[in-house]
Amino acid sequence: MSDTSFQVQAGGQLCGSLRVPGDKSISHRSIMLGALASGVTRVSGFLEGEDSLATLAAFRAMGVRIDGPDAGKVTVHGVGLHGLQAPDAPLYLGNSGTSMRLMSGLLAGQAFDCVLTGDASLSGRPMRRVVTPLGSMGARIDSTAQGTAPLHIHGGAMLHGIDYDMPVASAQVKSSLLLAGLYARGTTCVTEPAPTRDHTERMLAGMGYPLQRDGARVCLDGGHGLSAIEIDIPADISSAAFFLVGASIAPGSNLQLQHVGMNPTRTGVIEILRRMGADIEVGNERDAGGEPVADLRVRYAPLHGIAIPAALVPLAIDEFPVIFVAAACAEGRTVLTGAEELRVKESDRIQVMADGLKRLGVQAQATPDGMIIDGGTLGSGCVDSHGDHRIAMSFAMAALRAQGAIDITDCANVNTSFPGFVALARSAGLSIQSAG
Ligand code: S3P
Repeated sequence: MSDTSFQVQAGGQLCGSLRVPGDKSISHRSIMLGALASGVTRVSGFLEGEDSLATLAAFRAMGVRIDGPDAGKVTVHGVGLHGLQAPDAPLYLGNSGTSMRLMSGLLAGQAFDCVLTGDASLSGRPMRRVVTPLGSMGARIDSTAQGTAPLHIHGGAMLHGIDYDMPVASAQVKSSLLLAGLYARGTTCVTEPAPTRDHTERMLAGMGYPLQRDGARVCLDGGHGLSAIEIDIPADISSAAFFLVGASIAPGSNLQLQHVGMNPTRTGVIEILRRMGADIEVGNERDAGGEPVADLRVRYAPLHGIAIPAALVPLAIDEFPVIFVAAACAEGRTVLTGAEELRVKESDRIQVMADGLKRLGVQAQATPDGMIIDGGTLGSGCVDSHGDHRIAMSFAMAALRAQGAIDITDCANVNTSFPGFVALARSAGLSIQSAG
């Protein structure tokens, strides 16, 4: 447990115009695919957070020259699909599930052995969801008896394509198999039970890799190449979500969020908040290197509870901690079902959020696959984020509508996805201090 904590005074409003850091999912992929491309990939808007920096360090350790990051600019000198070198030591991926799951697929096709490790949270997260289907492609990956990291990936495996029906809607699993598919004989197809973020497919296509998409199914053949491109990474909608909720719940708020990624596989949070009555305007819609972006304007609006449609769950999967805060401030009942995946994120986000909301006096009932929240008054007190970045930032925003100060413990991991959160939130009007 880290000794960084947040103290947030009650009340206030969010105003002004700001840009949150770059998209985490796209930042990871820019390093991975940039490294495998031939030529020099120039990235701007890169997220200088611990998770994407872990991916960057791992590829440097495999012999890829990467300049930066410098104010969000990164230059990746691609080595081609077969140019990675064996790392001298295990690759430590910190808190980052995306790094571990995507790299498992990518590394399964290399000639060398390597070991992937992570922190206590990552070492407890389920990896069989990638290890098992990669095994059916011919990969040789050892995990612990519990199916967790460290993962020992044996090089020199002859991979072959499979046709995989994913049992869970997971972009990490889909991406892992597609990355292994680059190295496989024949065709790799993945079918998803519900749409998940498609940044891997977009970036592969942008780099000239042939891939076929047909509804829920995506297929590619191994053996083609990737060509370097320029990648302009939009602001992360998952980071913008804290401000969308903060401004929605705090009377008097009027905030602009610039250059936010609006990929339709990521915008569930906007749809859910609007259904709850939020006032979010989408303006200046444009394209940034194959990804849609827009400027968002959010103003305070009274929210009401809703039954969250199951189809929106994968499209807002990382935003539920802060959506729960919106629900706690809404009039009436909000019901979430079909979201059991939240139990295996950086923390058990159903339990940890229910515990924290209850500490603040909110009627929140955890269910196996979601939560039932009766909106009302938020009190004050101390909540434990359990080292989960999104939980820490969600409770920070809750203070805007609380009756007294909220103290949040174990907040160091906010740096995994949102470096500079405290300063940016203060600049918009949140009375937040960080200690430790
Ligand atoms: C991610 C996919 C999602 C998401 C994670 C990032 C990605 O995970 O929660 O933060 O970049 O592919 P799952 O694939 O486990 O749903």
